Amino acid sequence: MSLSNNRITKLFNIKYPVIQGGMVWCSGWRLASAVSNQGGLGLLGAGSMYPEVLREHIQKMKTATDKPWGVNVPLLYPSIEELMQIIVEEGVKIVFTSAGSPAKWTAHLKQHGITVVHVVANSKFAKKCEDAGVDAIVAEGFEAGGHNGREETTTMALIPIIRKATSLPIMAAGGIGSGEQMLAAMALGADGVQIGSLFALSEESSAHQAFKLHAIRSHEGDTLLSMKKTTPVRLLRNHFFEQVKEAEERGASPEELRELLGRGRAKKGIFEGDIDEGELEIGQVAAMINEIKPVAQIFDDLINSYNGALSNLGKL
Ligand SMILES: Cc1cc2nc3c(=O)[nH]c(=O)nc-3n(C[C@H](O)[C@H](O)[C@H](O)COP(=O)(O)O)c2cc1C
Repeated sequence: MSLSNNRITKLFNIKYPVIQGGMVWCSGWRLASAVSNQGGLGLLGAGSMYPEVLREHIQKMKTATDKPWGVNVPLLYPSIEELMQIIVEEGVKIVFTSAGSPAKWTAHLKQHGITVVHVVANSKFAKKCEDAGVDAIVAEGFEAGGHNGREETTTMALIPIIRKATSLPIMAAGGIGSGEQMLAAMALGADGVQIGSLFALSEESSAHQAFKLHAIRSHEGDTLLSMKKTTPVRLLRNHFFEQVKEAEERGASPEELRELLGRGRAKKGIFEGDIDEGELEIGQVAAMINEIKPVAQIFDDLINSYNGALSNLGKL
């Protein structure tokens, strides 16, 4: 399976079909430009940026890399209109939308010549993406860090389901931290991969060192899906997680849960490194990440392990 010549590398004009997922408090211009400079596609995570902060990061991106890159916009946050206006004004060429309907913004972005990708966790939304005219889909499974689908479909089951539902190019996301996992996702029908946790824990990620260290020391079972009543999100266990769990178990209302979450919990945990009271978003794959590496090394390891796995399979 050629890594460098498929529908995803052609769509974005990149070397490897490896997308660094947009991630609140992790993926500013430093991480995104490092990924693009290695031949993947770096995405700025607009979800944790005020509009003018996004503009600043876009402008820094333009000087930090001459390779393709994009912006991720979770549609559930406020200031969407302003963020989209800045994206158009600044001439951004690729936008990944998530956490909302693809029908809302796709046509507008495409009118401005922008390539649009939407993140889905089920086949119903994959079909909506096709109707809305998106160029490609990220299919994100239950293992993934951050916000998650209610259906709890794992990547292993989700990719073939989405493959059947649409002919659009697919990037598999959720639980991918090595070339072996990349190859598996592509064997299931994906054209490329979107990786979050592995890059969130890289040197160039803007996450706090305490968050990164806490995550790389975690084991299987240490991340769980939380806040299923409001917006499901995969979190590392900590005091905040236990508070949410206790509230959910005694039947707290969505309003109470939203209040407990408050504003700024993710910033507190991921960016400020408060590992007790913050919201620690990370995927199951954290249990197999034991080191904080620079992006260049992450790419070397991914490509080498992909090629190794491919040749091992050939011997079967
Ligand atoms: C810390 C963190 C923050 C995230 N923030 C966002 C976000 O703002 N927008 C989004 O679409 N996805 C977000 N995600 C999901 C990632 O973009 C990606 O799809 C996911 O992490 C892939 O699964 P993995 O963590 O197993 O690699 C986030 C993930 C993490 C770990």
